[in-house]
Amino acid sequence: MGFFDFLTEEIAIDLGTANTLIIHNDKVVVDSPSIVARDRISNKIIAVGQEAARMQGKTHENIKTIRPLKDGVIADFDASEKMISLFIKNIPALKKKLFPPSLRMVICIPSGITEVEMRAVKESAERVNGKEVYLIHEPMAAAIGIGVDIMQPKGNMIVDIGGGTTEIAVIALGGIVCDKSVKVAGDVFTNDIVYYMRTQHNLYVGERTAEKIKIQIGAATEDLEVPPEEMSVQGRDLLTGKPKQVQISYREVAKALDKSILRIEDAVMETLSQTPPELAADIYNTGIYLAGGGSMLRGLDKRLSQKTDLPVYIAEDPLRAVVRGTGITLKNLNKFKSVLIGKKN
Ligand SMILES: Nc1ncnc2c1ncn2[C@@H]1O[C@H](COP(=O)(O)OP(=O)(O)O)[C@@H](O)[C@H]1O
Ligand SMILES: [Mg+2]
Repeated sequence: MGFFDFLTEEIAIDLGTANTLIIHNDKVVVDSPSIVARDRISNKIIAVGQEAARMQGKTHENIKTIRPLKDGVIADFDASEKMISLFIKNIPALKKKLFPPSLRMVICIPSGITEVEMRAVKESAERVNGKEVYLIHEPMAAAIGIGVDIMQPKGNMIVDIGGGTTEIAVIALGGIVCDKSVKVAGDVFTNDIVYYMRTQHNLYVGERTAEKIKIQIGAATEDLEVPPEEMSVQGRDLLTGKPKQVQISYREVAKALDKSILRIEDAVMETLSQTPPELAADIYNTGIYLAGGGSMLRGLDKRLSQKTDLPVYIAEDPLRAVVRGTGITLKNLNKFKSVLIGKKN
């Protein structure tokens, strides 16, 4: 604790491919889509988060919406830096301050990002007054957020299904023992639905509509115990060019998603097969924990459980498990120093 610590504010950031969340003073103060809108002529960022998300799919030629972290890598450095800085600057409690406070932060990053990208995130954070900036890998933060005691000599398996990537990790003694990151997650599910509607119904739907279908009636299996009602979907008829509506059931969505879910199942099986036997024995008892928005797909937990013969648990509030874990790490920097990237011992 330094003398000027009262001038320092602490924030925890989950920089997700789909959503960015920030905790400040134990509260989630930012929960926004990781999207920016840019004016093509002036090259200025004109909106971030929710506001930019509303423009998605409805832009004209002068405005472009960008998902800077789309596939679990930083696709657009400049846009991601502006996004991080605007989210931080808009935290209400910090906005009120006369001087911008210096920040101590822990940022959770997708584990697929490279050293260069990590440095870029860190530097972006430093440019918005980050005096102490630490990074943490996503599955680690998810595990902490779920409430797993990661320091124990005991294996736990975490599967975090986000927007761009599914991150699978076996964690023990505060480290990642084996892991796998596949680029099959929520975004791919959404695209599967766009493709299915086009090929099976001749209906052209946008990504936002497809995501709505996924959330409202999406399923990972065709035999759900509590099936959701059919849904009316509107889009453009590919044959006539006219707007059209069709009814679809969760079974169709399950068909559309089947191949992608199979790929996630395979990745989980592969990670299990690489797990050292003592840790595999632990996982036999503890099961698999799911986090991330994708884990809310109906029946996915059951399907994974049948495939692996293991109990599968969905984290409480799975969209916030990672930021919760990042927040816990921030408050216990010393305890978790071994899992932080950039913390001097
Ligand atoms: N109820 C739901 N069922 C299925 N998918 C969902 C649901 N809610 C959100 N999602 C999906 O979860 C993904 C976002 O999850 P999130 O954990 O925030 O990702 P990231 O960490 O990559 O930002 C999106 O693809 C979104 O469509
Ligand atoms: Mg995430």
